[in-house]
Amino acid sequence: MAVRFSCGGVGIAQAGTVVDLRGWVNRRRDHGGLVFVDIRDRDGITQVVFDPALPEAFALGHTLRNEDVIAVAGAVRARPPGTENPKLATGAVEVAASELRVLSRSQTPPFPVNEEVDVDESLRMQYRYLDLRRPRLQRNLTIRHKLVKAMRDFFDERDFLEIETPNLIKSTPEGARDFLVPSRISPGSFYALPQSPQLLKQILMIGGIGRYMQIARCFRDEDSRADRSVEFTQLDVEMSFVEEDDVMAVMEECIVYVWQKALGHAIPQPIVRIEYADALRRFGSDKPDLRFELELRDVAPLFADTPIQFLHGHARSEGSRIVAVRYPGGASLSRRDFDALTETAKSFGAGGLIWISFAQDGWKSSIAKLLDDATVAALREAAGAQAGDALLLVAGPSAEASDVAGRLRLHVGDRLNLRDAAAYAFCWVVDFPLFERDPETGGLAPTHHPFTAPLPGQDALLDSDPLAMRAQHYDLVLNGTELGSGSIRIHDVDFQHRIFADVFKLPEAEIADRFGFFMEALRYGAPPHGGMAWGLDRLAALACGATSIRDVIAFPKNQNGRDLMMDAPSPVPAGALRELGLELKKSR
Ligand code: AMO
Repeated sequence: MAVRFSCGGVGIAQAGTVVDLRGWVNRRRDHGGLVFVDIRDRDGITQVVFDPALPEAFALGHTLRNEDVIAVAGAVRARPPGTENPKLATGAVEVAASELRVLSRSQTPPFPVNEEVDVDESLRMQYRYLDLRRPRLQRNLTIRHKLVKAMRDFFDERDFLEIETPNLIKSTPEGARDFLVPSRISPGSFYALPQSPQLLKQILMIGGIGRYMQIARCFRDEDSRADRSVEFTQLDVEMSFVEEDDVMAVMEECIVYVWQKALGHAIPQPIVRIEYADALRRFGSDKPDLRFELELRDVAPLFADTPIQFLHGHARSEGSRIVAVRYPGGASLSRRDFDALTETAKSFGAGGLIWISFAQDGWKSSIAKLLDDATVAALREAAGAQAGDALLLVAGPSAEASDVAGRLRLHVGDRLNLRDAAAYAFCWVVDFPLFERDPETGGLAPTHHPFTAPLPGQDALLDSDPLAMRAQHYDLVLNGTELGSGSIRIHDVDFQHRIFADVFKLPEAEIADRFGFFMEALRYGAPPHGGMAWGLDRLAALACGATSIRDVIAFPKNQNGRDLMMDAPSPVPAGALRELGLELKKSR
């Protein structure tokens, strides 16, 4: 009787054993009168040899094509000396086929499954089942599985309950558009798919659950990018009777545990904490990439008395910055290179870019005529530039200048290969503003969501200076990507009402309609509570070294939110619409 083995599981220890392997034809070679077939499954690849001495199996073996599904029985034997393949785990042995069954034939695949060649992503998405057979996705999905398993184990050991919250709900605001699902039974009424389980997990706390976690599917109708999709997964957590430090401690312990279990990597602790304002000042971003230094330097004071008109205003204005980004070795760049950098800065939203380089034969600059030696020396000193470096200067209103300088810093980091995909630099960003001004309406909007509590003792600012309020909010950042965010929540119904009514100016009827159920729940003994959610896809992508979350999702949507394999979204029959009480406008 042949013994079932996986295609990665046979080795020299099985020599002499008759094994039964099932899998896909990875490659067939006809060589020296024999037929060699590599058989593959998720576990690995084994070489199978068909000998004309067994004519039936040999003849069938001859017909095999890539991606056919087969069952092979045969004895394991050591490969002849000199033909071992050290790259394969099974490379010391081969299986001498005595029996072959073809379980399923494959058409010629539209791209090679057995090679790590670059394939157009749309094609990979259309034929996802073929892409899933390739090593990269198999590896990524395995790592993702390990991450999720470690998270569940971690929270289980700490007495958290995993609770499923519904997907057909009323809208919870996370700042994106909702996906709506029409109700057949209540024509004209719609469910919203959750942008996150935010309100439900808060209600679980009111429900006395105490410690909750969920691997939760979220839906946001927003533009997709490499780190963003319309449908994604969160590790969602909420705890009662906690303060900021309690939640951060558990989540920090969790990331350390998960990284160790899934990747065997030890994250140094404590994870550094950076205040939001400091992150913008030093890195030009609230999600700083700490894999490299190149901190931004403020050089406005050096231009306080400058005759350079366009710098003068920014040098003296409270709300402006003049920021220097150091480019190590940048003095070797040509004028043309600096022109290209200027274009890059413009694409980041800069009005222009000033550069100064410190070459052996003296300094050069895009504004050489407007600078003198003393100012340049002071700039060099202030920005910590060495001989051979260049400085990139950005001036403008603080938010814009910080953003452009932050992006330039990353650009320089990329060009100098300072953003090592195998390095993990975590940080916490804390002390976010509670509110920001909505550029469209001019009114106030929550920096994150409207349920975030301010720092203790700041309630009085709600009337006098809400923009000065800081939130009990924390983000976890890895390598310049926001992995997750969380906060202590408002559990006082009157304060929550003031946020809606006084700060966001929502009419009473709207508050009642959108949040009535939640406000009602807050009136029945809501415990102080807080929590956090991590983007699981982002986490998995960073853990796998993938550049897009689509490479860690089995069936991803493309940039336009389409599933190219199933061809969704797609039109529905008129009858289905009629049943839902819906009618489409004629497209013009
Ligand atoms: P937030 O909206 O910041 O917070 O989301 C938490 C994390 O989820 C991930 N994420 C996404 N990942 C992929 N595609 C998207 N479209 C997408 N949007 C968000 C990010 C992000 O950091 N309820 C709150 C959390 C809380 O306060 O507990 C929330 O959802 O990694």
